[in-house]
Amino acid sequence: MDIKERIKNLVDQLNEANIEYYVNDNPTLTDNEFDSLLDELIKLEEKYPEYKLDNSPTSKVGTTVISEFNKITHPTPMFSLGDVFNEDEVISFCNKIEKEIGKTKYVCELKMDGLAVSLIYKGGKFISAATRGDGRVGEDITNNVKTIKSLPLTLKEDIDLEVRGEIYMDFSTFNKLNDERKKDDLPLFQNPRNAAAGSIRQLDSAVTKSRNLSMLLYHLPNTNLSTHYETLELLKRVGLPTNENSKLCSSKDEVLEFIRYWNVHRPELPYPIDGIVIKVNSIASQKLLGSTAKYPRWAIAYKFPAEEVITKLDDIICTVGRTGQITPNAVLEPVKVAGSTIRRATLHNAKYIEDKDLRIGDYVVIRKAGDVIPEVVKPVLERRGNVSKYQMIDKCPICNTQLVPSTSKIDLLCPNEICPARKVNALIHFSERDAMNIEGLGDSMMEDFYNLGFIKTITDIYKLKDHRNEIIELEGYGNKSCDNLEMSIEKSKENSLERLLNGLGIPGIGLKTARLLARKYENIDNLMNASYDELHDIKDIGPILAENIVNYFKDINNINLINELKLIGVNMTFKGEKIVQNDNYTGKKFVLTGTISFMTRDEIKNLIETRGGEVIGSVSKNTDVVIVGDSPGSKYDKALKLNIEIWDEDKFKSLI
Ligand code: IVH
Repeated sequence: MDIKERIKNLVDQLNEANIEYYVNDNPTLTDNEFDSLLDELIKLEEKYPEYKLDNSPTSKVGTTVISEFNKITHPTPMFSLGDVFNEDEVISFCNKIEKEIGKTKYVCELKMDGLAVSLIYKGGKFISAATRGDGRVGEDITNNVKTIKSLPLTLKEDIDLEVRGEIYMDFSTFNKLNDERKKDDLPLFQNPRNAAAGSIRQLDSAVTKSRNLSMLLYHLPNTNLSTHYETLELLKRVGLPTNENSKLCSSKDEVLEFIRYWNVHRPELPYPIDGIVIKVNSIASQKLLGSTAKYPRWAIAYKFPAEEVITKLDDIICTVGRTGQITPNAVLEPVKVAGSTIRRATLHNAKYIEDKDLRIGDYVVIRKAGDVIPEVVKPVLERRGNVSKYQMIDKCPICNTQLVPSTSKIDLLCPNEICPARKVNALIHFSERDAMNIEGLGDSMMEDFYNLGFIKTITDIYKLKDHRNEIIELEGYGNKSCDNLEMSIEKSKENSLERLLNGLGIPGIGLKTARLLARKYENIDNLMNASYDELHDIKDIGPILAENIVNYFKDINNINLINELKLIGVNMTFKGEKIVQNDNYTGKKFVLTGTISFMTRDEIKNLIETRGGEVIGSVSKNTDVVIVGDSPGSKYDKALKLNIEIWDEDKFKSLI
């Protein structure tokens, strides 16, 4: 068989197998067989790109692309767990239980930090998988769950099961995924839980598959067994993945011992956990104890405090932002905390360093609450050597200009408008996702192009193709990457006005205000002609912002920049939706929590704003409505406490 024919043959086989697997629920190849055929195809296509076919599975994002997740009603509702945060609360939980049912055994389990899933097996065959949703109705994620390697499609016994567990992402997968996203200039996932949730909610199963998710099962809501520990044994026996660290404890002292052990040994685990789940072992006792509307009374989650480690503060270096703002950063001896290696942490400003009395050479406590951003908590005074008080810089580290205090007096600023650091950061800001969104023109590329003199001003971005021959000579830049870059630069000319307004870097104007202005003025000329009074009259535009806008458009350099951009063909009009008054939304303040299945956060925000509502970050008595999706956070509890109107997914849908 010649090469061309073999490629066609591989493409057909793989596409067929994909359809059988994802669409017809009928896997025809093992994972290994599939991977080795795919591997062969990738290699052949690399060597003979001229034979690559349009329908090759290597160039498609995926095979099953569904538009929306269907709903599944859980045969038995899915409960969440009440939280406790210290040993005393664990003891009172146990005491309360033992007062009711007498002395009891408990099962302690690691609390996996992922997202809850409910699986249905009938006669030992995997039927479906659903998210928790509102506890009653979840989303059908069957196809995506099928891509999880440890999921058995057939159990070792022909039984019917409704079984609950957790989908999660281990640390090495998470770090690899974020490394790749960083390279591709995509936003990073904050933590493995978000990454797992984002991966399972992919409309394209092939993307989920590539994310290498894991799963552990830990609960049968309906069982004839007499203890929870037997449940775990049954799950294991039938071939379902369970956690090997679960322990049957005979007393609350053993429970505390388990908690203390994992408080210390948690960093050794390759996957994220955020606490310990303590469950009454006897199922009869569980039934006796029952549940509240939200939580079972027979189980509780002990949540770990944020993870802390000690490392050395090797240096403090200051960076210069686009507005000239100086930010001191801690350079740390690399240390592992909550699954990732920390080398840097922001120290915000001189006051932060002074209040904590952080000194170069100190040992410091670093805290990470599971998220990517670490915090320097305090110096370890017991280990302080001969170190001197930190002296904040008074000259710009880049251009050596004398620094000046900001209006708030908290920060220091480099006032030099032509400071190279300010200029590069302004250019980076222009091409960022929330601004002109020029894909492929990331931070380090912009720095390279600035240093090489290819891009010194915003308009230079649109003349970058003049340097194509020089760019191709550089390491890591080929014809293809130049093509892509030129294409995304060209595409950015079509953006709606608010992106440009945000990108220009007018002090105090972020995307939100930019959108407000773009919507109101419709094109840049109207905005440039707006008076201070007129701007100040707009709700949410205070005197400082109004002044900044007027001053910006008065400056001849900025007027020239706008004119040049117009000549280049950059769009200067608002292309988004106009505001249409709507009684359910206009004038109301909304808070979002959890995941809404049929819309992204940005889409929901846009929908609310185009109906005259506003989305705010936290719940207070001034909040009008809280929209609650899957796996809501503490905002939901607060809304209940404050008696604020709640819209679940169905209600929200009905009011669109
Ligand atoms: S038992 C009725 N066991 O934590 C009992 N939950 O904060 C249902 N979780 O919704 C839950 N590890 O998503 C249980 N070993 C474990 C768990 C666990 C993680 C999650 C689960 C639950 C949430 C509550």
